[in-house]
Amino acid sequence: MGKVYYVSKHVGLGLLVLAVTALVTIIALSIAYDKERAKNQDTLGDGAADGTTPVPTPFTPKEPWDRYRLPVSLVPVSYNVTLWPRLKPGADGMYFFTGKSAVVVRCVKETDLLIIHSNKLNLTSFNGHHAVLTGLGQATAPAIQNSWLVVKTEFLVIQLRSRLSVGASYVLYTEFKGELADDLEGFYRSEYTEDGVRKVVATSQMQATYARKTFPCFDEPAMKAVFNVTIIHDQDTVALSNGMEIGTADSVIDGVSVRVTTFEPTERMSTYLLAFIVTSSLQIRIWARRKAIDSRQGDYALNVTGPILQFYEQYFNATYPLSKSDQIALPDFNAGAMENWGLVTYRETALLFDPIMSSTGNKETITTVVSHELAHMWFGNLVTLQWWNDLWLNEGFASYVEYLGADYAEPTWNKIILSDVHKVFAVDALASSHPLSRREEEVNTPAQISEMFNTISYSKGAAVLRMLSEFLTEPVFTKGISSLAVFLLKFSQLFVCCQAVENTPGMHIPHTVHDIMNRWTLQMGFPVVTIDTRTGSITQKHFLLDPDSVLDRPSQFNYTWFVPIKWMKTGVEQQQHWLLQETGNLIDWVLANTNVAGYFRRLLFLIRNVFPLCRAKIINTTLALTTTKYLSKERDYIPWESALRNLDYYILMFDRTEVYGALQLYLKKQIQPLFEHFKTITANWTKVPTGHTDQYNQNNAIGIACSMGVQGCGELIKSWYRQWMENPHHNPIHPNLKSTVYCSAIAFGGVEEWDFAWRMFKNATLASEASRLRSGMACTKAPWLLNRYLEYTLDPTKIRKQDATSTIHYIARNIVGMPLAWNFVRARWSYLFKQYGGRSFSFSGLINGITKRLSTEFELQELMKFKEDNLHVGFGSATMALEQAIEKTTANIKWVAENKAHVLKWFNDESK
Ligand SMILES: *[C@@H]1O[C@H](CO)[C@@H](O)[C@H](O)[C@H]1NC(C)=O
Ligand SMILES: *[C@@H]1O[C@H](CO)[C@@H](O)[C@H](O)[C@H]1NC(C)=O
Ligand SMILES: *[C@@H]1O[C@H](CO)[C@@H](O)[C@H](O)[C@H]1NC(C)=O
Ligand SMILES: *[C@@H]1O[C@H](CO)[C@@H](O)[C@H](O)[C@H]1NC(C)=O
Ligand SMILES: *[C@@H]1O[C@H](CO)[C@@H](O)[C@H](O)[C@H]1NC(C)=O
Ligand SMILES: *[C@@H]1O[C@H](CO)[C@@H](O)[C@H](O)[C@H]1NC(C)=O
Ligand SMILES: *[C@@H]1O[C@H](CO)[C@@H](O)[C@H](O)[C@H]1NC(C)=O
Ligand SMILES: *[C@@H]1O[C@H](CO)[C@@H](O)[C@H](O)[C@H]1NC(C)=O
Repeated sequence: MGKVYYVSKHVGLGLLVLAVTALVTIIALSIAYDKERAKNQDTLGDGAADGTTPVPTPFTPKEPWDRYRLPVSLVPVSYNVTLWPRLKPGADGMYFFTGKSAVVVRCVKETDLLIIHSNKLNLTSFNGHHAVLTGLGQATAPAIQNSWLVVKTEFLVIQLRSRLSVGASYVLYTEFKGELADDLEGFYRSEYTEDGVRKVVATSQMQATYARKTFPCFDEPAMKAVFNVTIIHDQDTVALSNGMEIGTADSVIDGVSVRVTTFEPTERMSTYLLAFIVTSSLQIRIWARRKAIDSRQGDYALNVTGPILQFYEQYFNATYPLSKSDQIALPDFNAGAMENWGLVTYRETALLFDPIMSSTGNKETITTVVSHELAHMWFGNLVTLQWWNDLWLNEGFASYVEYLGADYAEPTWNKIILSDVHKVFAVDALASSHPLSRREEEVNTPAQISEMFNTISYSKGAAVLRMLSEFLTEPVFTKGISSLAVFLLKFSQLFVCCQAVENTPGMHIPHTVHDIMNRWTLQMGFPVVTIDTRTGSITQKHFLLDPDSVLDRPSQFNYTWFVPIKWMKTGVEQQQHWLLQETGNLIDWVLANTNVAGYFRRLLFLIRNVFPLCRAKIINTTLALTTTKYLSKERDYIPWESALRNLDYYILMFDRTEVYGALQLYLKKQIQPLFEHFKTITANWTKVPTGHTDQYNQNNAIGIACSMGVQGCGELIKSWYRQWMENPHHNPIHPNLKSTVYCSAIAFGGVEEWDFAWRMFKNATLASEASRLRSGMACTKAPWLLNRYLEYTLDPTKIRKQDATSTIHYIARNIVGMPLAWNFVRARWSYLFKQYGGRSFSFSGLINGITKRLSTEFELQELMKFKEDNLHVGFGSATMALEQAIEKTTANIKWVAENKAHVLKWFNDESK
């Protein structure tokens, strides 16, 4: 699945690296985790000997239907699935679909119980039972004694009068009716209005556990089968599924004229990759609303798809495994995109591009997301994880190669690897973080599965694989990982793959790839590596944001890592050094990290990495700030972007305190020259900077300058926005600057500016334009407008369900909106939870977003109380996020207490 993209620019990833002080050079290498798997359980005793509590074994229920995992006695072979969605509501006003399914199962272990997933489906009764069982070939099926549904574990249980025989095959037949709800899960409905006419699309999202809401199935990734799909639909619509359509026939069923479309049998595949769509617009390969296609918004994605597929064929040394590749943009879609095999689904913002209205950032998002999803066509879909605990391999890998694919499609962008390692860093430096690869039994319920779709799996996963590719070198890594033979190994044995490459001539690694990578994937956190520049001695230490936090998760590796260190001496790359113990020695020490060296200039790497270190008390805070002093002379994007991301923490912690005044003065002084620079090179804001990153940097310059009160900035923005308000059909604001300008203009303005944005939002024909306005409206400083806006998020006719949690998140980013959003979420918790919470992955983002600024004892108490008050409701997929929020708040309180006075003094001194 693709990440949920918010308006912010999406940028690459990279390992964290390097910081220098007068005497000590500190290298912080990012990375990873603790997997106390069964295998390691035996050795866990050693690690836990220091008095820490071992992780408790989960309680195992007695009855097989009370466990979340399917028994291993039956395996599905293939399904005949027929679905008939009704795009008009029934007599009771409900949208629904009907269907029937025949699944061939093979018995591999004697059993008299047949357990299959089924959720929220009304099953037709046959002789008082929910299904019909028949034998295939010679086999005779035992009679059904009893059948029932288990709501909690989402099972249909069929108790037989006698046992099924090992080796025999049976057919389980069901008929069912389900709601075609607007809930973004399973088979669901998406709506939009075109030329005043309301249109309905039936579409689907199965990952991770929603296929069972569409038809009874063995809904686990390892339970692969062949699917013969038939869709019944209106004659003026078209049906799409994973396979190529092999036949359409018009017919009359139950007195209704319909078209029956059948699809070629799929490859053997997992249920979570299925897709079913019925829509009225017609266009080959890139699908969307007809209006969007007519205005050629699909052209760009279509342009990059070919080259990207070509690239992966080469990269994986395997032809594209399917006979077709459809991609469709949907008005209502929860994730960023979903890699359904052969029929990839996207949010409109992640696929549709308008040459006039869209920004450079939109284009980059599209290329990256398309590249990410297409990578899954091989890695993930052809070869699939055994269980969700190893999701990081699937998503981490796609997140790693998406840059390679995008770079191939758009070679001139000179893409810069500046990462969301930042976000990972913040989470992974917590004692409540979790291992990249979790124990299988820790990931059971749908909510726990959904929780796996997090920064750790995506960004950290990518960082670890990137480190591997770096110490093996890219050609060796590619060869190892991409040869088809390797693919066919089970995912969890990925690193076994690399043994062959260990013998590559010239390859010197101190342990097997398997052993090295275990340190990074089997224990959480990552080390900070300190190099004493006088002696060349190096030490590593588990990096924790709060060094005093208590770790209740023991590691059999004692939180030490095998750390590859690349370094340079007088500009020449030296042989890779390995730090294998807590301390070691770099004999011929000079300085530097080569990893991202090409991209980094001057003191850049300082800014990037000093800040987290000072938050963890490894170097002092004001020293970190000192590295921003040269910014007034800096004109490049990367150093600015890094600095701004880092300063963001200072702004969050201090924007409600007296420090903010001084901080603002300082930053104003620093940003002014950059603002003037862009004013000059764009000839008084009339031209677009030529460089790809300069365009991003101009946006930063304007955004910061306006919020810090640089002379001329506010007037400039307001005049642009006013021109637009006077002539709504002509928007004078350049697409690259729109996000920033909308936000600033609405922040400076009042209800008139806001209502204008709302009208433009409702009329927007391009999803990314709507998305910018939606984010911009959260910037107003008027509490009543913010509260009204919060209420809108509960009304799907105002804010689409897919956008509700991110809108609340945007409002919480605003200093005035934060307490309002926090109150709103607390007051409506049980409602929000019911609507989105159980399982949606955007839910943890909501908790993250609204708790970001919490930094006082009082706020911590409130947070704890919120947790306590809602224990009976639960936190679903946000459970981990809540624990992390508590830990982060605790760390914030400490940090503010220790640093506030120093920081205030520093900003005061420096802003003079
Ligand atoms: C689905 O189609 C395949 C290929 O034609 C066939 O082998 C399989 O038996 C079919 N599945 C069912 C459930 O009939
Ligand atoms: C699946 O559908 C095919 C084609 O309609 C049919 O021949 C076959 O018997 C069906 N399989 C089962 C198990 O019902
Ligand atoms: C399923 O049955 C329940 C109980 O009779 C009913 O409330 C619900 O609306 C039905 N669902 C569908 C999709 O018909
Ligand atoms: C797609 O490619 C064609 C042919 O190279 C080009 O003319 C067109 O401008 C491209 N479209 C977009 C939106 O980039
Ligand atoms: C690609 O695959 C082909 C056929 O499987 C094989 O002969 C060839 O050596 C592979 N190439 C590389 C670079 O691995
Ligand atoms: C971890 O520490 C314990 C106790 O200090 C020691 O016995 C054990 O060998 C260490 N394990 C590793 C992998 O370093
Ligand atoms: C940080 O270090 C500088 C220089 O060594 C010193 O002047 C300053 O007081 C220190 N700040 C804190 C917060 O310890
Ligand atoms: C720049 O543009 C503004 C607004 O359009 C105008 O008032 C100002 O005179 C221009 N400055 C220069 C130097 O052209």
